[in-house]
Amino acid sequence: MLRSVILVLLVIAVYGEEQNALRQLISKRGPVALSRAISSCKQGRRQDCEDCSTVKICSYDQTALTSYRCQDVDPAKPYCTGEGICSETQEDGVVCNEANELCPMNSPGFYPDPSNCTRYLYCDSEMLGYEQNCLAVNNVYNQTTAACFLKRRSSDCFQVDCKNSRNINKWFVYTPFPQLYFLCSSNGAIMFKCPRETDVFDLDLKRCEFECREAGRFAHPNVRMYYECAFVSISKLQKFEQTCPPLLEFNAKDQKCLEKKNDLMS
Ligand SMILES: *[C@@H]1O[C@H](CO)[C@@H](O)[C@H](O)[C@H]1NC(C)=O
Ligand SMILES: *[C@@H]1O[C@H](CO)[C@@H](O)[C@H](O)[C@H]1NC(C)=O
Repeated sequence: MLRSVILVLLVIAVYGEEQNALRQLISKRGPVALSRAISSCKQGRRQDCEDCSTVKICSYDQTALTSYRCQDVDPAKPYCTGEGICSETQEDGVVCNEANELCPMNSPGFYPDPSNCTRYLYCDSEMLGYEQNCLAVNNVYNQTTAACFLKRRSSDCFQVDCKNSRNINKWFVYTPFPQLYFLCSSNGAIMFKCPRETDVFDLDLKRCEFECREAGRFAHPNVRMYYECAFVSISKLQKFEQTCPPLLEFNAKDQKCLEKKNDLMS
């Protein structure tokens, strides 16, 4: 009798440890973990933290019924701590600030949340993300200014529902700022940035390619070549790749191929 009681206690203790470990693991994923299905709840808790920024509400049979972000309830208390209490500061010993999948690699700055046009985040050089919301009603984020503005037409709000099964494992260009592109993974959106401002992610070739935005000649990764953008009809710009004549290199300032600069002279 006593042995079985001890056994039960042991099982509960081990289970508790596992749940803790799981929580740590989930916490490490950071706020992106939001887009996953909510994990089941600890026994005896009707409210708990799903991750460092999300509270979940549970039924007695340990099913998570719903969840909300602390930040949406009170921006001054963005962290979920303890048994699902929103707080100003992070919980001690829980690793929250892990790389955020919405942060492109090695490019600190402000970025949109491509699945919600009212959300954006600041990414630091370690790809830690600090989430922000457009606070004013009907305001949406503009990547060019890193600010929110009043939405006038529906196209002002660009967002893709990455939870929709149709979109899982699909790539998208973030159209309002096409240097950015993202994958809707099963864990939510993963953001990437083309190395050059003039590049756009080619969804078929799965790589960043130069895109014509105005007529003219533009630098090519190969200095012996250049891109030529020319109108082929009133509204259609077409891209051509040209190679400079032998011994010449493209000079973006002069918009043509010139003799190679002699490094000794400069
Ligand atoms: C977008 O985010 C805001 C703020 O977090 C939230 O209130 C809103 O429901 C979200 N919209 C969608 C479509 O998820
Ligand atoms: C975003 O801001 C830029 C710079 O002010 C502006 O040119 C652009 O039109 C804005 N985008 C939208 C959708 O309003």
